[in-house]
Amino acid sequence: LSVLVRVPASSANLGPGFDVLAAALGLYMELEVAETGRFEVRTDLSIARDSRNLAVRGFAALRPVGGVRFTIRSEIPLSGGLGTSAAAYVAGLAAADALNGGGADVLAEGTRLEGHPDNAAAALLGGFVVCAGGRAERLDPPAGLDAVLVVPGRAVRTAKARAALPPEVPMTEAVFNIGRASLLVLGLARGDLDLVARGLEDRLHQPRRASLYPRSMEIVERARDLGALGATISGAGPSVLVWVRAERAAEVAARLESECAGWARVMRLPFAPAGVEVRTTGA
Ligand code: HSE
Repeated sequence: LSVLVRVPASSANLGPGFDVLAAALGLYMELEVAETGRFEVRTDLSIARDSRNLAVRGFAALRPVGGVRFTIRSEIPLSGGLGTSAAAYVAGLAAADALNGGGADVLAEGTRLEGHPDNAAAALLGGFVVCAGGRAERLDPPAGLDAVLVVPGRAVRTAKARAALPPEVPMTEAVFNIGRASLLVLGLARGDLDLVARGLEDRLHQPRRASLYPRSMEIVERARDLGALGATISGAGPSVLVWVRAERAAEVAARLESECAGWARVMRLPFAPAGVEVRTTGA
């Protein structure tokens, strides 16, 4: 029996929604799992090929990995902020759950492995997600909204980015973010891109992590001048999610290309409505 799993990349936080909001992106990781009798990890990526591999760890949370061959392909850049680790955990979990006949709480397991729910929820459900109280609510991507990603070559480690945040924040900053996050979710739900644009600012995490990704922050600050609705640091960075009206995506991407020449890749992508897809093959 073998299982083929396809999982989307994701962008977490979306500005004001630290550890709460995320969106699935149209870039994919594929995991093929076959019970061959021999443990093996096959991949062209520079990632672990033993039990430290994140897809293997996801699988191992639900089912023994001995005798299983894992084949991993991915188009998700590894420099950070695009939910690769969540995609890998969710892929492993979903494959094991399928072989077990279903029934696992993949979101809870993915959240436990990852330490926060946002990317795992987006990878699992697709669309936009709101995570709270151990559950995730999904919204469809609004019509006419597109993404342009800026992906720097130099990586930022999520653990380091999380260590840059204090245990407590001032009330004024919390209130600022609650207002923006509310506008953003309302804008997404109504398909009102002006509201979305007003809801992209953050005072909790991006300013405190700015020294880890100074060039990315410059793009966030310049995004509106370049014709975008706004921009947010993708997850823990350094990638930047630039939010654009579909009709202006090509023009904004071209401007970003010249801004980022030499230090970052620019990719135009759709927001992905679907989350993890699992196909069981063979007998
Ligand atoms: N919400 C998380 C963070 C996402 O910003 O640390 C990291 O992938």
